[in-house]
Amino acid sequence: MKRIKIKELLATAPTGQPVAVHGWVRSFRNSQFISINDGSTLQNLQAVVELNALGEDTLKRITTGACISVSGDLVASLGKGQAVEVKVKNLEILGDCDPEAYPLQLKNRPSLEYLREIAHLRSRTNTFSAVMRVRHAMAFAVHKFFNDRGFYYIHTPVITGSDAEGAGAMFRVTTLDPAKPPLDDQGHIDYKEDFFGRETNLTVSGQLEGETYALALGEIYTFGPTFRAENSNTTRHLAEFWMIEPEMAFYDIQDNMQLAQDFLQFLTRYALDNCAEDLEFLNKRALEEDQAKPQEQRSELTLIDRLKFVAENDFQRLSYTEAIDILRNSNPNKKKKFQFLIDEWGTDLQSEHERYLVEKHFKKPVILYNYPANIKSFYMRQNEDGKTVAAMDVLFPGIGEIIGGSQREERYDRLVKRVKELGLPEKDLWWYLELRKYGSAPHSGFGLGFERLILFVTGMTNIRDVIPFPRYPGNAEF
Ligand code: 4AD
Ligand code: MG
Repeated sequence: MKRIKIKELLATAPTGQPVAVHGWVRSFRNSQFISINDGSTLQNLQAVVELNALGEDTLKRITTGACISVSGDLVASLGKGQAVEVKVKNLEILGDCDPEAYPLQLKNRPSLEYLREIAHLRSRTNTFSAVMRVRHAMAFAVHKFFNDRGFYYIHTPVITGSDAEGAGAMFRVTTLDPAKPPLDDQGHIDYKEDFFGRETNLTVSGQLEGETYALALGEIYTFGPTFRAENSNTTRHLAEFWMIEPEMAFYDIQDNMQLAQDFLQFLTRYALDNCAEDLEFLNKRALEEDQAKPQEQRSELTLIDRLKFVAENDFQRLSYTEAIDILRNSNPNKKKKFQFLIDEWGTDLQSEHERYLVEKHFKKPVILYNYPANIKSFYMRQNEDGKTVAAMDVLFPGIGEIIGGSQREERYDRLVKRVKELGLPEKDLWWYLELRKYGSAPHSGFGLGFERLILFVTGMTNIRDVIPFPRYPGNAEF
């Protein structure tokens, strides 16, 4: 008999028809009621074993975590908590699970920290299956948003010779023997002997390559893994994360901000409309977690209310200079409650400042723009004031920066001058500079950190819990 997924089965009218289901046992009560989950939905299916229908041997092997196949008749359930159930006629154990050794027993609810150590099994919990179903829906929605608007999906390289952010936080890619690398005349490592005949690294961003296609196809986006070797042990940083980077010809910074808002609102609306069951569960979970915190640290809105709020309200647009004024005169600054006090124009904002603006002052998402050139990347368009660039960051409640972007410097001379000022390797950037020589155009783009989006949408609080296998300093297990 053909297997039916539990999600589909639960939406079927029970008329005693025969069905077959495969899944993992969540619990087995009274040697009679098996609760089965197959990952297609948060909900379990109840399968009822007739007393004495199965041999003692088989009954013993129906344990939490075991994989089983059942077939029988789909009937209306007499019990509370489910509309339908399966009266089991056949039951086969596909994979045994030793109840003594299995770490995911219902009785003891494991902590998220512990679950990170068993990331190969945490997928079997309600929390992680819900998060990953939402993650899937968000990836799909990203493609839908751009496809509906005529953007082309461009696959930028994972291995590259350029440092897009000019920040030097890169993982090297090499096939040279670290114990005895080839040396040149001056005794330096001779990368001409390396696999690609030059130094290469894992990409920190697909932006620069993305720009080449925006200046040909008009509107494009990338969506791929990016890598940063920064030693950030925080709840918002990963060494390997996924980034979505749209890049658009003929967009100025204002158009860029509007697209960022439309995009984030589309994604939150999509989650509300398509992930209701998982969001209800995650909402409850976040509430419970919140209630364990002291009053002043609790969120004012529930997860679902936060999503609705973002989907329905315009974001606050604010220049860096205005933000500095607000922060300088804020209570936490005057009372020296900020760890980094705001004193003069030009300092970089820390996440405590971003969160103050979003969570305390405006109580809504904020788009900050026109940052000092000194704290931003080389490719950003220089404003006429001679000190700021057309950069923008979107700041979200509970997250801080979720999007970073800018209008790009499309003027050849200005860009070359900036590259020289910063001492960046002009020879490696030759192709990027040439884009400004041959039919340059005003253009803009941004990057959305996919995991930061998933943090926001699921209400999880640690970025390591919204990617199947997190990579962070000191950890690359699995
Ligand atoms: O602000 P970032 O560094 O911008 C860029 O990479 C640009 N090239 C994007 C562009 O204009 N096309 O990174 C963009 C976003 C951040 O706002 C953040 O959401 C996320 O990527 N991000 C990280 N997410 C998880 N772990 C990290 N270590 C991250 N670093 C950045
Ligand atoms: Mg940034």
